[in-house]
Amino acid sequence: MYHYYCLNPISQVGIDAMTEKYVPVSDPKKADALLVRSAGMHEMEFSQELKAIARAGAGVNNIPLERCAEEGIVVFNTPGANANGVKELVIAGMLLASRDIIGGINWVQENEEDGNIAKDTEKAKKAFAGCELEGKKLGVIGLGAIGGLVANAGIHLGMEVFGFDPYVSVDAAWRLSRNIHHAKTVDELYKNCDYITVHVPATANNKGMIDKNAIGLMKKGVVVLNFARDVLVNEEDMIDALESGQVKHYVSDFPTPVIAGVKGAIVIPHLGASTEESEDNCAKMAVRQLMDYLEYGNIKNS
Ligand code: MLT
Repeated sequence: MYHYYCLNPISQVGIDAMTEKYVPVSDPKKADALLVRSAGMHEMEFSQELKAIARAGAGVNNIPLERCAEEGIVVFNTPGANANGVKELVIAGMLLASRDIIGGINWVQENEEDGNIAKDTEKAKKAFAGCELEGKKLGVIGLGAIGGLVANAGIHLGMEVFGFDPYVSVDAAWRLSRNIHHAKTVDELYKNCDYITVHVPATANNKGMIDKNAIGLMKKGVVVLNFARDVLVNEEDMIDALESGQVKHYVSDFPTPVIAGVKGAIVIPHLGASTEESEDNCAKMAVRQLMDYLEYGNIKNS
């Protein structure tokens, strides 16, 4: 019999995948395993019973990895399980930055009461005109599970795609379109692209990597997208760049109080992986890994 505790509710599909050997407990101190989505665990005290933590998601910055290693607690995440959900929202983010969909929707809502919509539509068409993605240059920093899908989607949209990733795996390389131009340096990507999207995990070395120096190398009017982690972008520098027009839009999946509400920022409340499919995939993978480890001692992060 194994006891588990969920710090965040995970998809029922994952819970249903557990055999009768797994019993939920109401006290995390009595658990052999913890299941978590985004809840911060850095302040949490772990009991002697705890053997594993399964994160239903890719990023593990909410988990104290060093302490887990010292205490012999195995940590799993679910790389790739939500990649398609994130990819689709990145494409939506590029479209939101290019076509004033939100302005148009608001305009219709504001004008419908006056009954003037039909008459004024021509004005609206001019006011909310945008630009197309086809033919534009897309830069993808990090060509892992999510970045690879975004890069391939860019190719399908007719964009010229620059990828940068010094550590791309052989498997990932096989999945990538041959039409991606592999930039030799990240600066090459910064200098060339109209849309730049970042898909790397946050580490001690890349905090604030998109700062005034990086932004200064980019084309004026660039669109920057961040669906990876808020700390990768220096938000003060980004605000200056939005104000000066160096960056036209900053699309962020992290609603920090600093950036929310700034003109040109399009901020979403961390919805990249919030789809039924991604949540089910993550929960199933997390539970499968956990059972495989607890019952057979296998450590397989896939
Ligand atoms: C991730 O790292 O995969 C995301 O933060 C997923 C989530 O929203 O939980």
